[in-house]
Amino acid sequence: MKQPIATLLLWAAALQVPAGPTAPPVEGAPDAAALYAERCAACHDHPRDRIPPRISLAVYRTPEEIIDALTTGIMRQQAAGLSTREIRALAVGITGKEPAAAGPDPDANRCRATGSTAPPLSTQPGDWNGWGHDLANTRFHGSPGLTARDLPRLKLKWAFAYPSRAAFGQPTVLGDWLFTAGAGRRVYALDARTGCTHWSHATGSVVRTAVVVTRLPGEGGRVAAWFGDDKARVHAIDASTGDALWTVQVDEHPGARVLSTPAYHDGRIYLGVSSNEEVAAADPKYECCTFRGSVVALDARSGRILWKSYTVREAPQPTRINTAGTQMYGPAGGAVFSSPTIDVQRGLLYAGTGDGYTSEGSDSTDAVIALDLATGERRWTSQVRAHDSWILGCESATPGANCPSPLGEDYDFASSPILATLRNGRQRIVAGAKSGILYGFDPEERGHLIWQVPLVAGSSHGGILWGPAVDGKRAYVATSRYDYGTGRGPGGLSAVDLATGRLLWTHPAPVLDCAWSRDRCSQGQIAAVTAIPGAVFSGALDGRLRAYAGRTGKVLWQFDTAQDFPAVNGGTARGGGMDFGGQIIAHGMLFVHSGSTRTRGNALLAFSIDGK
Ligand code: HEC
Repeated sequence: MKQPIATLLLWAAALQVPAGPTAPPVEGAPDAAALYAERCAACHDHPRDRIPPRISLAVYRTPEEIIDALTTGIMRQQAAGLSTREIRALAVGITGKEPAAAGPDPDANRCRATGSTAPPLSTQPGDWNGWGHDLANTRFHGSPGLTARDLPRLKLKWAFAYPSRAAFGQPTVLGDWLFTAGAGRRVYALDARTGCTHWSHATGSVVRTAVVVTRLPGEGGRVAAWFGDDKARVHAIDASTGDALWTVQVDEHPGARVLSTPAYHDGRIYLGVSSNEEVAAADPKYECCTFRGSVVALDARSGRILWKSYTVREAPQPTRINTAGTQMYGPAGGAVFSSPTIDVQRGLLYAGTGDGYTSEGSDSTDAVIALDLATGERRWTSQVRAHDSWILGCESATPGANCPSPLGEDYDFASSPILATLRNGRQRIVAGAKSGILYGFDPEERGHLIWQVPLVAGSSHGGILWGPAVDGKRAYVATSRYDYGTGRGPGGLSAVDLATGRLLWTHPAPVLDCAWSRDRCSQGQIAAVTAIPGAVFSGALDGRLRAYAGRTGKVLWQFDTAQDFPAVNGGTARGGGMDFGGQIIAHGMLFVHSGSTRTRGNALLAFSIDGK
């Protein structure tokens, strides 16, 4: 598909406005240009690292999305104290567009209206529930309802369009029910066979996690669903009706958020807490840094916090005054982005941690940690990289006053450590890092590092990002050399022997143009990988979804998701790059998100054998 003409016109218009919104202020109305200059220009007029340039906000973002980013999203700290009118004025000033009076109807395709009644909701073998399919986070489904030989017959059955711009997150499938948020401010229960909507639930903040669903013991059979949001809250809702049960704040830091899909086990839910502080810290006036990552255990029924265990052990203390006159704090960092892994047999929980933010280091950043399931007490820590302290904007020639020293590389563990069981019964903890290295640890020996294999050059966007899959023999690892500046870079899929860490095969992604153009078209494979007997699935930032033979890496099936599809809920579902969540294969169907915050796209796609 060609760049739409409207977009090109906007580019032209935006190019003539080099330094922020210039519309003359109306009497009494907030002055968008002044607000932008005061609050936003320091970063968005000097793009570096992950900061999107103003022009890309103007071209790729809708006013609704800017309002979202400033009220409940990633920029809410930067917009703290602004009134609703000021935020609206900024959104209009940046995009040159008025926000729509009301968004698309989220319930436009209610199942009731199509005559279908909701089937009973229960968990059954063959479901895909939560992030990693099982408590070990293998991302391997042994009885998915289709075989590797069926794959060439997969056809699109239906497409659903999220009202939000992106399709992040990952669906959960229980029988004929599908639960998803897709990075909007709403969680949906859809009919997995047809895509009609049983209910949708407004969450008040962006939800990027997957949903985990379980029948609560002894509550008259109530089935509950849990998920986390961008304001660091965890929600429990009734999975049959979408009615709210409880909402709990799991961290008080203003930048905290939950990207980690909750894991349910034995009446409790467990999840990790991360934050936006690496972004906020780019401002030399920001008192950097005070956020510490943590893992939290909640009573599934009441939401009561049973324990909260910080990654970085010491609470941050005042340290130096920086050259901008701002009080600095440390140590900080060690975010937990991924869903925790539960080792029932050993009574442990494993979590991967991110980098540090300050010159004061910690033994718990860029590490796999083991916590006692019952108490949250630390049992062991296996750090792979010490002194990796990094915040945004420090790689430039003139690093800001907040920059840590020495400056690290931002080589987080962004994906879940996997508890892999080999065919001989031995176990390994396998974890991929943004360094591009896959690590194998020994759970019998307090996380002792057994092997490591570098698969691709590391980067702050992730050599290995959202996670591998394992079967009893191999780890399947998606790799990426995505570059934020150019929006380009190669990708691939590799298989590694679980016992030895030996590289078995690599399949580099062919360099093909994207459906939207060659511009900002990367083959990077950052989305999580999924495996079934004989086949492995991996999606790329160029929108291509492939199934590979597990033994050889041969491509068995592929589909370009970066297309426009008629949506069952009206309008068009736009495919784009594939990011974050992986393919969900359950009960003979394949579900996948296409669209990300890095590219276009807002589609949930459902495939079945021959489209039946
Ligand atoms: C301290 C630097 C900084 C300041 C100040 C700042 N931003 Fe940002 N902004 C960023 C970075 C970095 C990102 C990308 C974050 C990411 O994707 O991790 C971003 C992302 C965004 C996005 C995209 C959000 C999304 O969902 O992808 C919008 C919209 C935005 N900023 C608007 C603003 C506005 C409006 C202001 C002023 C009120 C502002 N920003 C102030 C650094 C900044």
